[in-house]
Amino acid sequence: MPDPTTSVATDDLDEAAAVGELARLADELAAHDRRYYQDEAPTISDGDYDALKQRNSAIEARFPHLRREDSPSLRVGPARAASFSPVTHGVPMLSLDNAFSDDDAVEFDARIRRFLRLGEEAVAYTAEPKIDGLSASIRYENGVLVRGATRGDGRVGEDVTANLKTVGEIPHRLAGSGWPEMIEVRGEIYFGHADFAALNAGAEAAGQRTYVNPRNAASGSLRQIDPKITAARSLRFFAYAWGEVSAPFAESQWQALEMLKSWGFQVTPHATRVEGVEGLLDAYARMATQRPHLSFDIDGVVYKVDRLDWQARLGFVSRSPRWAVARKFPAEQARTVLEAIDIQVGRTGAVTPVARLRPVTVGGVVVVNATLHNADEIARKDVRIGDTVVVQRAGDVIPQIVEVVLDERPAGAEPFIFPDRCPCPLATPLARETTVSGAETVVRRCTGEFACPFQRIEHLKHFVSRRAFDIEGLGEKQLTAFYEEGLIAEPADIFRLARNEAILAALRVRDGYGETSVRNLVAAITARRQAPLDRFIFSLGIRHVGETTALTMARGYGDGETFLAAMDRVAARDPVAMEELDALDQVGGAVVAAAGAYFAEDHNRRIVQALKNELTILDAERPKTDTPVAGKTVVFTGALERMTRDEAKAGAERLGAKVASSVSKKTDIVVAGPGAGSKLKTATELGIAVMSEDEWLALIGGGDAPRV
Ligand code: IVH
Repeated sequence: MPDPTTSVATDDLDEAAAVGELARLADELAAHDRRYYQDEAPTISDGDYDALKQRNSAIEARFPHLRREDSPSLRVGPARAASFSPVTHGVPMLSLDNAFSDDDAVEFDARIRRFLRLGEEAVAYTAEPKIDGLSASIRYENGVLVRGATRGDGRVGEDVTANLKTVGEIPHRLAGSGWPEMIEVRGEIYFGHADFAALNAGAEAAGQRTYVNPRNAASGSLRQIDPKITAARSLRFFAYAWGEVSAPFAESQWQALEMLKSWGFQVTPHATRVEGVEGLLDAYARMATQRPHLSFDIDGVVYKVDRLDWQARLGFVSRSPRWAVARKFPAEQARTVLEAIDIQVGRTGAVTPVARLRPVTVGGVVVVNATLHNADEIARKDVRIGDTVVVQRAGDVIPQIVEVVLDERPAGAEPFIFPDRCPCPLATPLARETTVSGAETVVRRCTGEFACPFQRIEHLKHFVSRRAFDIEGLGEKQLTAFYEEGLIAEPADIFRLARNEAILAALRVRDGYGETSVRNLVAAITARRQAPLDRFIFSLGIRHVGETTALTMARGYGDGETFLAAMDRVAARDPVAMEELDALDQVGGAVVAAAGAYFAEDHNRRIVQALKNELTILDAERPKTDTPVAGKTVVFTGALERMTRDEAKAGAERLGAKVASSVSKKTDIVVAGPGAGSKLKTATELGIAVMSEDEWLALIGGGDAPRV
């Protein structure tokens, strides 16, 4: 390793050298992290490690626009270990929505009651401590532990069975009785305070780096390659939920906790069952009082609707359940000096100001950057370079600047003037974004689109990112190098490169490359020529189209040709195509507008077409075809009495029907409840089958409201 103190001084680096140096530092620090967290065999001292990190920060401070997405300054936790096999969770491991105040808790309760149409009846909830660790899912078949996985991205986690088996509080065999033949028990892996202190004391005595907090220690310890190291780490486990189950085993969350306890799990002794808003607020106050006396970290209280049939009716919104919320304790704060404000350009051209701070410890983590959101936010808070600011950090969210300490403003501090041009070499003007209805928003965007090198590279990074095409051996470093050398300018170029003998020959003799790495790269690229439709859609980088929406769109359109044809029609503002897109679950006006704008750009269409020519796009899982409503377009109108609108929609879609919001010639069934008006009239005029809610339920084969 080059001695960080004798490398070229950061002030003497030019831009090209800085790019290389940042890439080298990112690699080197990642390797040290791996040695430290995963191999437990650090090869440098803490001081040298910190010097490398500081060098990285110093270069980033000079060339903010060069900061890499994988920059070590952005990394809080350890990187994902490469050697665990992926596990697709049978039921996704979702996250929780947050509530921060009494008002939020009141609104949570009100929302539940509205959704369930409960009137005055008080809802019973469980209030459980929100353990600050990492969640795990442990699968039992016939009472025997068969597999354990981390949460990962919620859909796919890592197989850490061997490591989880070393955790004393996780039974290898379920005790008692009443457990389903198959159950995935979910809960939190965490470190107790005393064990955490002992772990760090040991590390310090051995001259190794310590973990910044119990959560990082739990995560680092669980994701060890060698289970013997995990075994020596005193990890603990609280069970509080479940994933896939072969049969229901409880009627309420409270009863489920009792059952989990009877099967040999630890459940938090501080959980309570409460009623109504009063109960929610009391439970929070109680937990806040208990917090300092607990032997483990908690960062809030989780409220859950107790009745499981109600949970099922409430269902999910995107990635979190409607039936639960995490009431967070207030964020931890600290004061520090704002040293600079840098402007970053994202994939879609949105520019974000970032505060560079004098390093400060907030809630156990050293903070050097904070988001300033946008120009209006800077103006509103009147944040000036040189100001002392209050920084706060809550959980994993990006640190934020709460306010300026005006008393400590240095003389001569000038208001920050937001640049009106992109920091890229083209210095393209920045424009304020407008909404679908034409109103100005706070977002400023570089108007250079693909001409802006920052956006192009961000777009390519998104394309190869883990959740998009995830091409092994083509990380950000190589991608940036290839981009800068003009080998790759757009996604299709990646696939062209793999069959361009001249380029491959040049790569084989390149520094750091060779026959094997080129062969591996070609193999990795070739393997991705078969692309599931949802990944393809996600990778395009259409605004507002994240993984969930991409999956919904993929399922909705079924195959690549249909998707692209539909997008062309959306771009041409064909009302039927727009309506069809809008009717997909989780898709709204913003997605329709973004998809329309994306595919209206000739340039984008050309890029997508070129990419498609390189790929075999795999059809999405087809909606069900063997149900009485498969392939039918259904419109729900009027009041529904036995289910909510969302339930009705989700239930219909699960059976392969399409749910539309307006009646047209394409509508097959209109389900009309009391108060139905113009849609019912149109349906009658068009001769479309109209049925009552009960008739609909009878048709789909269930008197019960469909589970969401
Ligand atoms: S319930 C469908 N209960 O908080 C959601 N989560 O932000 C099921 N957590 O990933 C989660 N304590 O890691 C639940 N008593 C508790 C919890 C808890 C901690 C964590 C969990 C989850 C995260 C959600």
